[in-house]
Amino acid sequence: MVNILKEYLVNPKTTGAICPSSSYLAEAMTGNDLLCADCVVELGPGTGAITEKILTKIPQDCTFFSLEINPIFSAKLKEKFPDATVYSDSAENIQKYLEKHNAKECNTIISSLPWTFLDQQTQRKIFESMHNSLSKDGKVVTYSYLHGLLFPSGRRFRNLLNQHFPNIQKKIVWKNIPPAVVYERKK
Ligand SMILES: C[S@@+](CC[C@H](N)C(=O)[O-])C[C@H]1O[C@@H](n2cnc3c(N)ncnc32)[C@H](O)[C@@H]1O
Repeated sequence: MVNILKEYLVNPKTTGAICPSSSYLAEAMTGNDLLCADCVVELGPGTGAITEKILTKIPQDCTFFSLEINPIFSAKLKEKFPDATVYSDSAENIQKYLEKHNAKECNTIISSLPWTFLDQQTQRKIFESMHNSLSKDGKVVTYSYLHGLLFPSGRRFRNLLNQHFPNIQKKIVWKNIPPAVVYERKK
């Protein structure tokens, strides 16, 4: 299995985590709505803890792909999930891959991106990419580690979230290292 701690030591700013997501976080991120999704995009799958859960819930004919910027993670994910589509690219480019799948938009985005580690420009570009790719009534789910929200980059993340996806709901998942706040805008 790919070692997330090792990747964190090499690329702390893009990896943003020292442990894979817990099964509790993976469950909170995937919920029950995926059963009727027709196009799902995952951002920053890392070791695939959430990918695994997504794959058990989406219907067989659902368009699904992940965008993972770290080529070591994406190579391992391809090995682990040979039936899933994983692109080694940045979350800024969702639209490019939707086009590749003959889709104009998706109805669900599930993001594990390390928001509080990203600089302002990257945060903005990815929010625009998500906003432009999601159908009007689409669902977005993402998380941030609880402690990260205290930093200026965490406040910037929450402002961008509220700006792009008003009325987003949140809940804390304590059974994760570290505890995480899951944000979800339902369909
Ligand atoms: C917090 S980790 C994800 C942990 C994951 N949930 C797990 O259980 O392993 C964040 C992931 O986002 C990826 N990432 C960071 N910036 C990215 C970007 N701009 N586009 C796509 N992936 C990115 C990192 O390489 C890393 O795999």
